[in-house]
Amino acid sequence: MPEKHSELRLLLPRLAVAACIAFGGFAWAQNAEPVSPKLTPKLQDLLRKEMLSVNEASQEILAAMVMGDDERVATLAQRIHDSFILRQSMTPEDKADLMAAVPEDFVEMDRGFHEISAELAQAARAKDRPLQQEHFGRMIDACVACHTRYATNRFSGLAE
Ligand code: HEC
Repeated sequence: MPEKHSELRLLLPRLAVAACIAFGGFAWAQNAEPVSPKLTPKLQDLLRKEMLSVNEASQEILAAMVMGDDERVATLAQRIHDSFILRQSMTPEDKADLMAAVPEDFVEMDRGFHEISAELAQAARAKDRPLQQEHFGRMIDACVACHTRYATNRFSGLAE
């Protein structure tokens, strides 16, 4: 167990730095345009479910990273990558509704987020811990960036 503790001591300051960059970097967010109120009830529901599973997976990734469980990190990050927000259980009509409702930039942010999760999975398969931490930091940046722009109706703290 002492080994795990020393890994934790190394990791936590890096995560703190990543979090500061994330929160500081997006403090001046402009053009907030909440996306959920523009969606059909079915799409709202899909987005919320997707977010809950992404949230759970990202927390599990942190736990797996601090325990050096590369395989688990790879599995979870790949799972996030494979579950593109809203793409699952969508009929062609839902897809048309979605495209009509959200700005192109939201789709881009979603895509960027999923690319980062693929890079994290790759770093975990390569057992490259420093790179995993870097990509995990970028992933948190991406959560905060999208929420700051598109979910301030939900997360009023990010509107300030
Ligand atoms: C491309 C945009 C985008 C990205 C990236 C994103 N989110 Fe979200 N998230 C949203 C939106 C929009 C909402 C608000 C949904 C609503 O109001 O129903 C939301 C809501 C949530 C919720 C609240 C769910 C609920 O209804 O209880 C959680 C938790 C959450 N996100 C976690 C995360 C985490 C963790 C990440 C990154 C690992 C992340 N999100 C990345 C757009 C995004």
